[in-house]
Amino acid sequence: MARSYYYVVVLALFIINLNSFGQSATTKDDDLSLGASYIFGDSLVDAGNNNYLPTLSKANIRPNGIDFKASGGNPTGRYTNGKTIGDIVGEELGQRHYAVPFLAPNSTGRAILHGVNYASGGGGIMNATGRIFVNRLSMDIQIDYFNITRKEIDKLLGASKARDYVMKKSIFSITVGSNDFLNNYLLPVLSVGARISQTPDAFIDDLISHLRGQLTRLYKLDARKFVVGNVGPIGCIPYQKTINQLNEDQCVALPNKLALQYNGRLKDLLTALNENLPGATFIYANVYDLVLEVIKNYAKYGFTTASRACCGNGGQFAGIIPCGPTSTMCSDRDKHVFWDPYHPSEASNVIIAKQLIDGDTKYITPMNLRQLRDH
Ligand SMILES: *[C@@H]1O[C@H](CO)[C@@H](O)[C@H](O)[C@H]1NC(C)=O
Ligand SMILES: *[C@@H]1O[C@H](CO)[C@@H](O)[C@H](O)[C@H]1NC(C)=O
Ligand SMILES: *[C@@H]1O[C@H](CO)[C@@H](O)[C@H](O)[C@H]1NC(C)=O
Repeated sequence: MARSYYYVVVLALFIINLNSFGQSATTKDDDLSLGASYIFGDSLVDAGNNNYLPTLSKANIRPNGIDFKASGGNPTGRYTNGKTIGDIVGEELGQRHYAVPFLAPNSTGRAILHGVNYASGGGGIMNATGRIFVNRLSMDIQIDYFNITRKEIDKLLGASKARDYVMKKSIFSITVGSNDFLNNYLLPVLSVGARISQTPDAFIDDLISHLRGQLTRLYKLDARKFVVGNVGPIGCIPYQKTINQLNEDQCVALPNKLALQYNGRLKDLLTALNENLPGATFIYANVYDLVLEVIKNYAKYGFTTASRACCGNGGQFAGIIPCGPTSTMCSDRDKHVFWDPYHPSEASNVIIAKQLIDGDTKYITPMNLRQLRDH
């Protein structure tokens, strides 16, 4: 009698324990206090969307991803050897997992509460940008897709909690603009570029007014915490230096000049949006100065070269043929600022991300990403 009573009690305790374990496991899985990243942009932050598009811009081929631990070194669609800046930021801010690519089969259910990535290699602010790749998601489409996600969040959390979550716990990062110059305005094939018909001023006006519309659409969908990257020194990438046959320490003037001109206008746009959209915080990430600092003083940051692509072929900086199974690859990947003719290595991404997360107003203004998260 006493014995069977004992068993019942033990069994009951065991069940209670199981239950509470089950509950705490679910709560931990779904811990919304960790927050989310919703990532928009181009190949600098694409985490695999282009794998699902019929496009000429693809990175799910070796040796891309060779240092990406989560995939065991297999390619994922990231255009670098390891993590992107978006991955590193999510990790450092304590989010539960990398933002899932919107087009991937697993971007369903509660996974979307921990972040979704809409970025697409070749994509830009303008619809026409990246046309040479046949397919890519431009910003307008990326935001259409977030509109779909936004309705899913409503279904998962209920309208009121969803709104709160999107406004307070979600960081919206936008890394776009390089392709609007490299694969649109500056494209050597003039027929698909805008350069024949527009002055730089007019083209940049157009970019800024489209971006204003795009950021405002995200605001209407309850986005409040934004970080927008400016365009990096695109005249210093191995591709540009190779086709223009420059020396190690030179950069191509026109692309950098256009980037700087756009960046000035972007900064003003974000200042205006901070004033005009109540409750929103727009952060300006000065990627241009940050990357130029690393390129100029590469040795100080532990690199041996800032001009030669680790993975690529052609010309003096391996800057013409994109990275793929048949291209050459350096053995000291973390000593190269550039992974391929266009994209920084993981080692560079770590340096850049660190400044964006914890740096001062020289590179990230008016606050850094850790402050934005807690804002
Ligand atoms: C989603 O799938 C990708 C690709 O298979 C994988 O790398 C990633 O870890 C998955 N993420 C989640 C949250 O399931
Ligand atoms: C760009 O394409 C999208 C989707 O096809 C469309 O909704 C949008 O109006 C287009 N934008 C412009 C400026 O043409
Ligand atoms: C989101 O989608 C709905 C239709 O489902 C549309 O009415 C609304 O204008 C869209 N919002 C934005 C900001 O694009």
